[in-house]
Amino acid sequence: MGSFIVLEGIDGSGKSTACAAVAEILRSEGLDVEVTAEPTHEGIGAFIRSGAAGRISQRAESLLFTADRYEHTASIREAVSAGRVVICDRYYASTAAYQSAKLDGDSADMAWLRGLCEPFVAEPDAVILLDMDPAVSLDRVGARGEEESKFENLPFLRQVREAYLDLADAYGFEVVDASRPAGEVLSDILQIIREVL
Ligand code: TYD
Repeated sequence: MGSFIVLEGIDGSGKSTACAAVAEILRSEGLDVEVTAEPTHEGIGAFIRSGAAGRISQRAESLLFTADRYEHTASIREAVSAGRVVICDRYYASTAAYQSAKLDGDSADMAWLRGLCEPFVAEPDAVILLDMDPAVSLDRVGARGEEESKFENLPFLRQVREAYLDLADAYGFEVVDASRPAGEVLSDILQIIREVL
């Protein structure tokens, strides 16, 4: 059996960079590591990313993210059963945190969101929340020169952050202060992962 590690956090919190860095280090130690992400880049995930669904309610969008997760979960289980270390950039907490936050006055309630994926999700060995003030993370996203997505505005991301912290309490996620220098953040993440490998 391998392991299943999830990194969560608001946009610009450094998840993707951390996933790649952690994978490189663990691979150099001889581990078989797979990095994956949600939304996925295939099928339903690609459909979500394309924006073709248009402006839909937070609930309808939650169902799309959940459908993508359902398909993705089968491949995660397969990789973990084959002995691989799977590092996943976002999983069920992203839907709970983002789609419960008010976007254009619309939000889905947390109990409904938490219930959506409960019947099928793979239980992560660790969920690591990269926590930081969205004012700082938005600066980082801006510095990358990326186009702002509809999710990237300060009041919305403040709600997402609060929802993440509540979820961390409820589910026992590991919370890492991601506003510190990248090296320190990476070393905390590695320590958490090594404890569960
Ligand atoms: P993101 O991790 O930023 O992907 P990338 O770095 O490849 O662009 O995810 C894209 C957006 O999707 C991000 O703003 C968060 C949002 N999202 C949700 O709202 N709910 C979800 O369940 C997931 C997985 C992502």
